[in-house]
Amino acid sequence: MRIVMIGSGYVGLVSGACLADFGHHITCVDKSEAKIDALERGEVPIFEPGLDAIIEHNRAAGRLDFSKDLAAPVADADVVFIAVGTPSRRGDGHADLSYVYAAAREIAAAVSGFTVVVTKSTVPVGTGDEIERIFREEFPGKDIAVVSNPEFLREGAAITDFKRPDRIVIGTEDARATEVMREVYRPLYLNEAPLYFCERRTSELIKYAANAFLAMKITFINEIADLCEQIGADVQKVAKGIGMDKRIGDKFLHAGPGYGGSCFPKDTLALVKTAQDYDSPMRLIETTVAINDNRKRAMGRKVIAACGGSVRGKKIAVLGLTFKPNTDDMRDAPSITIIQALLDGGATVHAYDPEGMEAAKEMLGTVTYGTDPYEIAEGADAIVLVTEWDEFRALDFKRLKTAMKNPVVVDLRNVYPVTEITRHGFSHFAVGKKTEKR
Ligand code: UGA
Repeated sequence: MRIVMIGSGYVGLVSGACLADFGHHITCVDKSEAKIDALERGEVPIFEPGLDAIIEHNRAAGRLDFSKDLAAPVADADVVFIAVGTPSRRGDGHADLSYVYAAAREIAAAVSGFTVVVTKSTVPVGTGDEIERIFREEFPGKDIAVVSNPEFLREGAAITDFKRPDRIVIGTEDARATEVMREVYRPLYLNEAPLYFCERRTSELIKYAANAFLAMKITFINEIADLCEQIGADVQKVAKGIGMDKRIGDKFLHAGPGYGGSCFPKDTLALVKTAQDYDSPMRLIETTVAINDNRKRAMGRKVIAACGGSVRGKKIAVLGLTFKPNTDDMRDAPSITIIQALLDGGATVHAYDPEGMEAAKEMLGTVTYGTDPYEIAEGADAIVLVTEWDEFRALDFKRLKTAMKNPVVVDLRNVYPVTEITRHGFSHFAVGKKTEKR
């Protein structure tokens, strides 16, 4: 099958590379000349474990190529995926669909013969209808079916998520498009990944509802964590205890500094706006958004409290900056708000992150960056773990204790067993657990 991916960002590249790996012929298109030039030189512009090898392998096999031009590959394509960005629109939080509609018009102008156009970008309910209207009114005579096929990829685990999905949601009521989409995902179907067909609007909502539900689940456990701290319970054990109930499930119950990233914050907000527009407000999600926003600043206050109520003139070592491990993505990362709260409180902040420091430099104020955890811990009054990179799991606490001015660990991801920290003489502050002061 010949497939074109419009947008070679995170979703487009991962999906394109994985579909090529299944034997389809893929052209990834992007307007950014710099991006396509880099990809053609063999450079992968995003950090995603395993992606570079898949891209290299499939380019060499002649199944994956890149193009700045949309028209030629689209004219030959059976399927065109739209995987461009849908950022929050400035001022009102609605998803900005200008890139989606612009891509749709360019695609429609270029197609020849029956073509399936698939929205993979996260788009509000009704976007497929609007694309169809554009095609019908502005490009009459073109034979195009519009399908919704949302992605459920997690950054850092995107290859596995694409190749071993819990489900593939496909929104279409068009019989010809249904057959084409079956063919696109046939290799996954053979792997027993369920293909779930539904109406296009339903499919569009499934994406938002899934992200909103997961964001709500995290927020729920974060509030339980706060209660645990007040009443002397342990949130990890509560999460395990409720997660063993299959109706609840044990995933996405890790308490922490609040969710971030390019998806949950944007998609929860967009869902709230859509619901308000349809006069069907989603109060649970409105509250989730508000709680999560407040939580990030509250984590800054938690660090200040751990430092005895003030960080003025103190040095704080921050481990991990990205919104989660195995990505270089800093978008809406809790570290941004936490560090700002510490700087506002008069602290000096030294930080280290395995992949996120380049992006962080553009977003954070006066932060000093180190080359490893031990360097930034030198003379520090506290270590704050914000992102749970694997390389932070087995730190040499004996060495850190010698290097630090005050032995305080604030573990915002509950990575370290309390005994591991306290036996080296540290005070230990975690999330949703009893504080152990030395
Ligand atoms: C999320 C969804 O998990 C994907 O299914 C979806 O496809 C994607 O958004 C998207 O819409 O494109 P992602 O943002 O990459 O994926 O990352 P997650 O692993 O979901 O984590 C999101 C945030 O929640 C992170 O800040 C993470 O630290 C936090 N989180 C996650 C918790 O605080 N606790 C948890 O138990 C799980």
